[in-house]
Amino acid sequence: MRQAGRYLPEYMAIRKKEQNFLNLCLNPSLAAEISLQPIKRFDVDFIILFCDILVIPFCLGQKVSFLKNHGPILDPIFTKDDIKSNKPEENLKKISNVFKTIELLSRKKGDKNLIGFCGGAFTILNYMIEGGTSVKHEKIRNFVQTKKIQAQELIEIITETSVEYLKKQIVHGVDYVQIFESWAGLLEGEDYEEFIIKPNKIISSKIKKFSPTTKIIHFPRGSKEKYINFINEVYCDVISIDQTCPDEIMQIAKSKDITIQGDLEPKFLLGDKEELLNKTIQILEKYKYNKHIFNLSHGIIPTTPIENVEMIIKTVKNYEIT
Ligand code: CP3
Repeated sequence: MRQAGRYLPEYMAIRKKEQNFLNLCLNPSLAAEISLQPIKRFDVDFIILFCDILVIPFCLGQKVSFLKNHGPILDPIFTKDDIKSNKPEENLKKISNVFKTIELLSRKKGDKNLIGFCGGAFTILNYMIEGGTSVKHEKIRNFVQTKKIQAQELIEIITETSVEYLKKQIVHGVDYVQIFESWAGLLEGEDYEEFIIKPNKIISSKIKKFSPTTKIIHFPRGSKEKYINFINEVYCDVISIDQTCPDEIMQIAKSKDITIQGDLEPKFLLGDKEELLNKTIQILEKYKYNKHIFNLSHGIIPTTPIENVEMIIKTVKNYEIT
């Protein structure tokens, strides 16, 4: 998550040259270079495509911009009538440069796996309706409660577009796809079933059918006890977790042969080195009887000292299961 982000000076150097973030996402040679920066510096095991989940609202015709120190801004008024074409193929042409980035990366990836991604449909809808980052998420909560049909219609379009988007990423060379459902934690009960489980299930089953060898990572962030419902209902090769996830997941993941990804809280990278080291070892020990990908539970904080990242990577690489 944002591993190519603002804590790396080499990323900031490129960012300085291209101030328009969306243009950067859609510039194949720069996006490929940024994607490879963490590999060159740390030799981590996976390459994550440099792009953003908000290219989907953009390709559906919504105005999307990223303001300095403010995050994304989207034209907040949006209905299905604002979408020009009902053919995902047609809409995806606006972001076809992403596939060129993937092509460049797949030529350079060597023995590393390349992760492509998209947002979960509800997370995308959240940004489309809120118009950007939000603290209380009042607009989306209200939208889901009072305009259920419109919400369902938009979710369907986003889901269909995301499936086509991921299929194209696979065709151009990604090995894994990750679906970032960053705002899954906002919903409960039937709404969770309707807006989180259902669309993620559609994405997963269509992708698995299209390309059985592509690995699917789901990240329904903040799902709490519903992480269990999620892995029981949605096909996952990997489940990415955060600290709200119950430990019960370990047993269930093991029985279903699902790999767990996570879950070091990013704030530990800002604090005391000894505490960070202990926490890293604690996580390695905790998941030693599971298939486990060591990762953070959310995006890295821009002020993270690089030496702390180096320390974690060294610890993980040198760790031996006893
Ligand atoms: O690790 C990587 O760099 C991979 C590429 C990637 C980015 N965003 C680049 C990025 C990925 C996988 C994402 C996912 C993403 N984008 C999510 C899901 C994960 C999560 O964080 O919950 C979401 C919700 C977004 C939407 C988004 N993009 C927001 C809310 C912001 C602003 C965040 C902030 O802290 O200011 C972005 C900007 C963004 N996306 C940056 C990067 C490297 C920072 C942009 C900059 O250079 O200023």
